[in-house]
Amino acid sequence: MVEKYQLFVGGEWVDKKETFDVINPATEEIIAKVPNAGKEEMKLAVEAAVHIQPEWADTVAAERARILVEAAKLMRERTEKLARIMTLEEGKPLSESRGEIAYAISFLEWFAEEAKRIYGDTIPSNSKDKRILVIKRPAGVTAAITPWNFPAAMITRKIGPALAAGCTMIVKPSEMTPLSALEIAGIFEEAGLPKGALSVVAGTDPAELTQVLMEDIRVRKISFTGSTNVGKLLMRQASDTMKRVSFELGGHAPFIVFPDADLDEAVANAALAKMRGMGETCVAANRFYVHHDILPAFTEKLTARLQAMKVGNGLEEGITVGPLIEPAAVQKVEEHVQDAVSKGAKLLLGGKRTESEKGFYYPPTILAGVTEDMKISCEETFGPVVAILPFETEDEVIHKANDTRYGLAAYFFTRDVGRIFRLAERLEFGILGANDGLPSTAQAPFGGVKESGLGREGSKYGIEEYLDIKYLSLGGISAK
Ligand code: SIN
Repeated sequence: MVEKYQLFVGGEWVDKKETFDVINPATEEIIAKVPNAGKEEMKLAVEAAVHIQPEWADTVAAERARILVEAAKLMRERTEKLARIMTLEEGKPLSESRGEIAYAISFLEWFAEEAKRIYGDTIPSNSKDKRILVIKRPAGVTAAITPWNFPAAMITRKIGPALAAGCTMIVKPSEMTPLSALEIAGIFEEAGLPKGALSVVAGTDPAELTQVLMEDIRVRKISFTGSTNVGKLLMRQASDTMKRVSFELGGHAPFIVFPDADLDEAVANAALAKMRGMGETCVAANRFYVHHDILPAFTEKLTARLQAMKVGNGLEEGITVGPLIEPAAVQKVEEHVQDAVSKGAKLLLGGKRTESEKGFYYPPTILAGVTEDMKISCEETFGPVVAILPFETEDEVIHKANDTRYGLAAYFFTRDVGRIFRLAERLEFGILGANDGLPSTAQAPFGGVKESGLGREGSKYGIEEYLDIKYLSLGGISAK
């Protein structure tokens, strides 16, 4: 059945004659029709946010927190429904969708607490007659541009801190996965969020929708998760109105295994860091640097593990690898694999798109003997391909791991504590998983260095991105 959705603009559910289709990547069927928003709807969303912004900024922190907690509760109660919608629009297996809903809820709960901890400072003054105070105020109207690979968590990771800080927010979700975003909008409405404090505006012309946000000086901050190229474009556009930005962009994570690592742990975490979301994550391990001494054992164990994974429609029992998001995603993976093989890499597993009448499937794939001149060594693959590169020394592997324009996540496996510190200090990445293939969590700062982005999401740092610092110089203190 094809569901009909409405947009959530300024607190109203809005229809439009022109709609766009949401496709299930597992079956290529149309699962929903969504009104195709244009400039007009986006402008209405901005006006509504501007209108309610002063009232929302003055709402006490406890009340903002209460609404976030209520939204989290409603999300938890509806986990099964939301997970199913996510699998239908994005493709990830149902168990992973359930996991993502829990991850999404954790951001609302975390920032509900942080809302109550927006502290200021008092600073010793050089004058007896003056006092210096620092207060923090909401940045104002904010906007979020969110990706398809985490249709719920990348939304709550932005809405959570924005609303907690007293900012209003307009969300432009990916047109490939707008349904989870619209479900979340409905949950916030039910939780009692004032009209206009949140809008979800989806459409097939992202550039047109984004232009409205970028040109309006009243939109004070933009948070984007997506490709580095789009991030650069948005940064240029943001400079015209001097908007604050936080960007979570591309990655090309190294996964380093030293000879002293617990091999079984390293293999289990390698599968996790690579195969979560079919490899379609910014933090996905891309380059597997494995020490020569353990190369055969690691490769054999990882091959056995990935071979046991089951490819298919994520709604079916036992499926652990869903489809990729669209045909272009499969093509990109094919291109990287073919390029590597043509330059001498050896295919140990997979390497050919899955035969199926419908759906955009590509199986877990392992390439050995990968070298730095191959596309897979420097471009984001965003697919289920393990590229294995051998190494000999710690210095060599640190140098190779850092030799990328990206700096989001890096993983390394070793039982040597001194080495853990050396790597943590020398690897140029924002997120470091030492013996951990899944470091993402609401209480830790998520974000990258170099061309992987700016700013941090989650943690106590995440809310700062939505707060302006004001300094109050208070004179006339001395008694006359
Ligand atoms: C992403 O890949 O964009 C986010 C992954 C995460 O939060 O772990």
